[in-house]
Amino acid sequence: MIVSLMRNPYLPYPVRLDQIVIETEDRNIKTFRLVFLSQEDEKEFRHLPGQFAELSVAGKGECPIGIASSPTETGYLLFTVNKAGVVTKHLHNMTEGEVLGVRGPLGNCYPLERMEGKNIVIIGGGFAFTTLRATLVYLLAPENRKRFGEISVVYGARNEGMLLYKNELEAWEARDDIRMHITVDAAKDPGWKYNVGFVPAITEKKITSAAESVAIICGPPIMIKFTQPVLKKIGFPSEAIIMSLENRMKCGIGMCGRCNVGTEYVCKDGPVFTLARLDELPREY
Ligand SMILES: Cc1cc2nc3c(=O)[nH]c(=O)nc-3n(C[C@H](O)[C@H](O)[C@H](O)COP(=O)(O)OP(=O)(O)OC[C@H]3O[C@@H](n4cnc5c(N)ncnc54)[C@H](O)[C@@H]3O)c2cc1C
Ligand code: FES
Repeated sequence: MIVSLMRNPYLPYPVRLDQIVIETEDRNIKTFRLVFLSQEDEKEFRHLPGQFAELSVAGKGECPIGIASSPTETGYLLFTVNKAGVVTKHLHNMTEGEVLGVRGPLGNCYPLERMEGKNIVIIGGGFAFTTLRATLVYLLAPENRKRFGEISVVYGARNEGMLLYKNELEAWEARDDIRMHITVDAAKDPGWKYNVGFVPAITEKKITSAAESVAIICGPPIMIKFTQPVLKKIGFPSEAIIMSLENRMKCGIGMCGRCNVGTEYVCKDGPVFTLARLDELPREY
């Protein structure tokens, strides 16, 4: 008799809300640090940067959220959540110590093996910086840093109060093995010491070469729309432009057909795609 040892993919792992950080001055974006109730569950949950999970709140439902922590950070998972609707509003009202569910990890990841030996350009906007944070922390981990070339980051938000992970941004700014280009659409503080301008414009100014490089973009559709031609102009081929999609989802495992773009299920075949692949698909994202 063959007994399947595969875990039921609809079953969430129980996790405890260990810490909540309010990220933005409008208080609408918070980072939740979650710890597994069981050590076995923690060992079983193996993720890579770019993957997401369904967060479930009892009696309210579940929603897909990118995993903001790197697999090199052990003992907890981080999710940075914008208060958007039913589930995320209830998540925002939860307090430390409460229990919720995490179903995953789901989807594919950024192509880390293909990225080895290359220069990496990370481009993010607004609260979509979450899986980019996971990627950056992964690339910068002492055991990984040597496997990658130069690392450049362009990260923008509406203003300085809307930037995520402020303490980490400062720490990355201070490192000499990464080029940070933080920008805001408009600075509120006259003492703002970084860039002012939209992400595509700052990308054009600061990223001068596409040689041996891979660019990863994650952000609002408008930012992605205007950043793609800039990357093309710098010389990035479509195969070297990697994007993460956020289509509406239900099951997260390729069963319900809610999220597809042409023949691809964003939840299972994605959410990470090269621009070359997206160019072959209908514009349903
Ligand atoms: C792969 C993936 C990764 C994501 N990562 C993050 C993340 O790291 N942080 C984060 O805050 N959000 C993320 N999202 C978006 C998040 O899933 C939605 O905001 C969430 O589903 C809203 O759930 P809700 O029950 O609170 O809102 P609902 O009550 O379901 O909806 C509230 C509003 O949000 C809209 N909405 C719901 N889903 C989406 C969506 N996918 N795209 C755009 N609008 C939507 C609804 O139409 C409605 O207007 C991600 C989505 C996907 C697919
Ligand atoms: S969300 Fe069900 S198939 Fe993708």
